[in-house]
Amino acid sequence: MENLLKQWDGEEMIIRFDRPTGAWILIAVHSTRLGAATGGTRIKSYRDVREALQDAMNLGAGMTHKFAAAGIMRGGGKAVIAVPPDLDPDARLHLLRRYGTLLQQLGGLFETGVDVGTTPADMDIIAENGAPYVFCRTVENGGAGDASPFTALGVLSGMQATCEQVWGEDSLGGKRVMVQGAGSVGRRLIKLLREAEAEVMFSDVDPSAIAYHRDELGLRYIEPKDVYDAECDIFAPCALGAVLNADTIPRLKCRAVAGAANNQLASVQDADRLHERQILYAPDYVINAGGAMAIFSIEITGRSHAEAEQQVSVIGQTLRQLYTEAAAEGISTEAAARRSAERRLAEAG
Ligand code: PHE
Repeated sequence: MENLLKQWDGEEMIIRFDRPTGAWILIAVHSTRLGAATGGTRIKSYRDVREALQDAMNLGAGMTHKFAAAGIMRGGGKAVIAVPPDLDPDARLHLLRRYGTLLQQLGGLFETGVDVGTTPADMDIIAENGAPYVFCRTVENGGAGDASPFTALGVLSGMQATCEQVWGEDSLGGKRVMVQGAGSVGRRLIKLLREAEAEVMFSDVDPSAIAYHRDELGLRYIEPKDVYDAECDIFAPCALGAVLNADTIPRLKCRAVAGAANNQLASVQDADRLHERQILYAPDYVINAGGAMAIFSIEITGRSHAEAEQQVSVIGQTLRQLYTEAAAEGISTEAAARRSAERRLAEAG
């Protein structure tokens, strides 16, 4: 753990052990250069604290790039709450309240919202003690609610831009899209893709998500172990991170990767691996910024949900520009995205 922390390029790490539940609260404040460190709260069980720490560090850095690339004046951070697998609902509730108190004590150093394993109802609880540092509360409680519908819309807009770059037109009609993970963003993306007349195949580990998409909607189900070998036009990672790596990239049978998951690349070299295979990669933190964009626009700027929906289509525009730049210079799309994010961070001093 000591080595991990020393190697990280973030500003600070807040570590709390929650004795009553045995949970670890890890708040990775990666960068406050553009503003208060902001990012979702992920609640999940990990193999060990070390794995959770690594996740928090990577996800926090991802948020810094996400905001910088989108021109949002926010710093990057992420909270990971590593919980024991059998945590009961009542204990979880109290944990959320203590977490809210911690956010209050931090006084705005870190601001949060939903992520994997948390919901707007959880944000309501956290906000009891943690307001005003909590986004994505339920609409009834004055928040913008779930970010995932906006994330899904942004990904769709990014996929259309990706189609345009690869096939010369932005229609998803007839395109075979492999969606990995039918969770809160994945299932919404699947719905939008079907409306756009794409041919969707999916993978998941949750029996109810499998039953719904395979048996009720009649979509083709791909076993998790076969996802990377599935023949498709676009691979859309919408589950957890590091799915694009030295083992999986050589197996891919797609022309493009465009999906919602955070931190899809296991390492920076994986961007080059995709580039060499001529698989067009929509940098994750660019294509999945719709949720964060919309939440701020509703909760800070006071826009309506409908206006925020309109706004996320800017993601397609941003990607088109990145694709053009990357192609002109012969660099990977990830390198082009990183450069533009780093430029913004450097400008901020
Ligand atoms: N967790 C989501 C993300 O990674 C959305 C989110 C971002 C929510 C920032 C609140 C604050 O982008």
